[in-house]
Amino acid sequence: MGETIREMYTEEQVTSKIAELAAQINEDMKGEPVTIICILKGASFFACDLAKRLTMPVVMDFMMVSSYGDGTVSSGNLRVKKDLEESIEGKNVIVVEDIVDSGRTLKYLKQDLKDRGAKSVKLCALLSKPARHEVEVDVEYIGFVIPDEFVVGYGLDYAQKYRNLPYIGVVEFD
Ligand code: IMP
Ligand code: MG
Repeated sequence: MGETIREMYTEEQVTSKIAELAAQINEDMKGEPVTIICILKGASFFACDLAKRLTMPVVMDFMMVSSYGDGTVSSGNLRVKKDLEESIEGKNVIVVEDIVDSGRTLKYLKQDLKDRGAKSVKLCALLSKPARHEVEVDVEYIGFVIPDEFVVGYGLDYAQKYRNLPYIGVVEFD
């Protein structure tokens, strides 16, 4: 069984969307310091490109949470595989995630980070698939709203492949 990748958003489209999101965050935060929490591995490209465009003082930290195996369907389990290095008590936190699918990862993280005493917790995702949302979660910053298709590239993977593509593409199974 093989698969081919059909381009959905070009590298240029992704770059300009990230610039828009960063401009919005800069406006909203009014120069207040921010801790960017990048959710590994999928959000790594996005978080770096976004952070470069933020104008307030920025600290970057990383978490790895798993809800998926190698397939394309949620297992329903959530596990913290790598936790933050620094305390976020009293900090303005922005969680940067690749995609909102069921919404479980971001819903869990928003509550978890609030429980740890963050001053504010906002969520930012490059992509969102509303047709697949299963839980209610308010994501303040969303790049692209997409139909129910499995996408890869720009950090997103299918069975750990295709993260390095500079664009976002749809996986077509043949
Ligand atoms: P959620 O908790 O169901 O919202 O799952 C979010 C996670 O599922 C993301 O961080 C991705 O790792 C993975 N995921 C969901 N949809 C896709 C997709 O279309 N391509 C690649 N990964 C996806
Ligand atoms: Mg992921």
